[in-house]
Amino acid sequence: MANHEREFEYTPRDFMRVKDLLYRHAGIVLNDSKDSLVYSRLVRRLRALQVSRFADYLDDLHPDSPEWQNFLNALTTNLTAFFRENHHFEVLAGLLKQHPIGQPFRIWCCAASTGEEPYSLAMTAVETLQRHDPPVSIIATDIDTQVLQTARAGVYAQDRVRDLSLTQLRQFFLKGTGKNEGKVQVKPYIKKLIQFQTLNLLAKDWSISGQFDAIFCRNVLIYFDKPTQKTVVERFAPHLKVDGHLFVGHSENLTPITRLFSPCGRTVYTLANSPVEKH
Ligand SMILES: C[S@@+](CC[C@H](N)C(=O)[O-])C[C@H]1O[C@@H](n2cnc3c(N)ncnc32)[C@H](O)[C@@H]1O
Repeated sequence: MANHEREFEYTPRDFMRVKDLLYRHAGIVLNDSKDSLVYSRLVRRLRALQVSRFADYLDDLHPDSPEWQNFLNALTTNLTAFFRENHHFEVLAGLLKQHPIGQPFRIWCCAASTGEEPYSLAMTAVETLQRHDPPVSIIATDIDTQVLQTARAGVYAQDRVRDLSLTQLRQFFLKGTGKNEGKVQVKPYIKKLIQFQTLNLLAKDWSISGQFDAIFCRNVLIYFDKPTQKTVVERFAPHLKVDGHLFVGHSENLTPITRLFSPCGRTVYTLANSPVEKH
């Protein structure tokens, strides 16, 4: 849309400022074709704040400003689905079966979005270990606080769960009532397995402790450039148990990026010096 047709003044310089802020603080690379997308994502924020020019909005914006989180939330892309890239859940089921009895299995899901991915992990654990309280703990993080709010609520429209089996629907969801009429809600025993928290993969300190049996970092590295991908992925190494597994998205390939991980199946990696048998 030409600038003069827009409700708010938005210049190429404004787009460059947004691009720079998002790259420096979230690692997200916006290519130049995204300039209309940025306008449409941020225009709601200008309306809410009653600011009439993007330049004025950006002048007041910095990581410590109250608007900062809204800015990030508006610009992330949160596409996800239950049991997306299902082959990973089959691998996880195999790992859970082999895991020594009595030792908790820890998972970090680091781009959890609206919750479908961590809930699918929890559901896989319940199905595989055939108990409502499997010894599994899942930390689900994301940079976007708004999607995490949706994730915590665990309420989904019917079309989000249409690919799940009737057995899964009965086992894992309640029918929504009142304001959630027509929707489904994840059952409390599934929610109990997950702890949601905000975490920016670019932050110097990750407020995450200990080591994990599995890290799911799927479909977020694609938004980063190669140096950022390398930095983030290599920071996972100390957080992975020696026989742990790192899962990435279908178009994310770590082999050209780092020597710290070796492939172990389709978009699944182990530490390069791991004792895990490669298949
Ligand atoms: C496309 S979704 C992927 C969701 C899920 N992992 C999946 O594969 O279905 C990407 C998610 O990464 C999050 N994200 C983007 N940049 C991030 C960063 N720097 N730190 C943490 N999360 C980030 C976004 O907020 C978004 O929810």
